[in-house]
Amino acid sequence: MYPVTLTGPRLTLREFRADDLDASMAVVGDEEVVRTLSFDVRDRDTQALRLGQDIARARTEPRPDYYLAITDGTGTLVGFARMGLGRDRSGELGYAIRHEDWGKGYATEAATLMIDFGFTTLNLRRVRAACGPDNHTSQRLLARLGFTPDGRIRNHVYANGAWRDSLLYSLPNHQTEDEPREYVGTVRIEGRPEIRFKVSARSGPEARALAADRYGEGIISVWNEEDARRRR
Ligand SMILES: CC(C)(COP(=O)(O)OP(=O)(O)OC[C@H]1O[C@@H](n2cnc3c(N)ncnc32)[C@H](O)[C@@H]1OP(=O)(O)O)[C@@H](O)C(=O)NCCC(=O)NCCS
Repeated sequence: MYPVTLTGPRLTLREFRADDLDASMAVVGDEEVVRTLSFDVRDRDTQALRLGQDIARARTEPRPDYYLAITDGTGTLVGFARMGLGRDRSGELGYAIRHEDWGKGYATEAATLMIDFGFTTLNLRRVRAACGPDNHTSQRLLARLGFTPDGRIRNHVYANGAWRDSLLYSLPNHQTEDEPREYVGTVRIEGRPEIRFKVSARSGPEARALAADRYGEGIISVWNEEDARRRR
């Protein structure tokens, strides 16, 4: 599925573009941010290469992951969120916010959007996440989102000159697939006011297909309110 845009109250998650290079350096080029991630801090040339690969990867079919830029109300890139796709309809969540925007609730909002997208649109049954034992901010964030701990992998990551353990977390999709449920969503068609719709369906993709039949192109997101509430 390309391109993907996820819209929340304050943030938008969208596909990366070539002109994101400078802004993305505030995330992947900042030691303070990358210290708790699973890759080394990047210089501009390395990031230029990686960004090109990320943009190309987004158009491969099937997509191996949804790696999206997080932008604020002014359109400024403030971080990234990623949903990697694994076997048996599992997803792996990752995120980072540039240092100057920490503590504003941005990662909470971006991760919530990504999980709703994973469960309703991608129809995932489980989302997992891994984070460093010292990354207490991320651990509290995962707990707030409803994740529970699954254990620890020793020497899981070698990055920024050191080996690091990881704590594993997961969040199951509680949605049953058999009974039809009510999905709500948003359609934005250029030049027209935004439309909110409700459809009854057995899964996120089915709801999306029904909405596409009814409204055509321009669907931004479709979600089940009960699932969204449970994860808040
Ligand atoms: C971990 C990280 C993504 C958190 O990002 P963030 O945007 O600061 O996270 P949030 O603002 O959503 O939550 C952080 C705190 O702000 C609080 N907060 C402030 N305003 C808030 C708001 N409006 N809504 C929700 N929470 C808010 C949260 O309650 C939370 O408090 P807590 O740490 O006491 O639980 C960020 O520190 C980061 O990028 N670190 C480096 C990369 C990294 O570690 N990524 C995760 C790898 S597992």
